[in-house]
Amino acid sequence: MRVERFNAAHRLYRKDWSDEKNREVFGVCANPNFHGHNYKLTVKVTGEVDSTTGFVVDLRMLSELIKSEILDRFDHQNLNLDTIEFRELNPSAENIARVIYELLKPKLDQKLELKILLAETENNIVEYPA
Ligand code: NI
Repeated sequence: MRVERFNAAHRLYRKDWSDEKNREVFGVCANPNFHGHNYKLTVKVTGEVDSTTGFVVDLRMLSELIKSEILDRFDHQNLNLDTIEFRELNPSAENIARVIYELLKPKLDQKLELKILLAETENNIVEYPA
């Protein structure tokens, strides 16, 4: 399990809804000028311990992978404006966790299981797969 943090701005908003409807569903998260979160990302990898190394996964490799695939892509970005992944996809914590899973999964040994925990605030935490 590896814990990392990143900061990013976002806005929850659907272009096909009126401003009133967006405000009703997403509350202050729909504010037009964006807002930021300090995301806490926990990447949990489970599987058999490799008898040669004694590791399930090399945490240094995992840390480098999270940096290159996730932090370099999302840290200090405006998710709606600066990233391809969320240009059309609402950057909710649920969607961010799923995107992170999909970016990391193909880079890991297929035998390993991956779970993403993403805390948007101390109190709001999502996991993928649920
Ligand atoms: Ni928000």
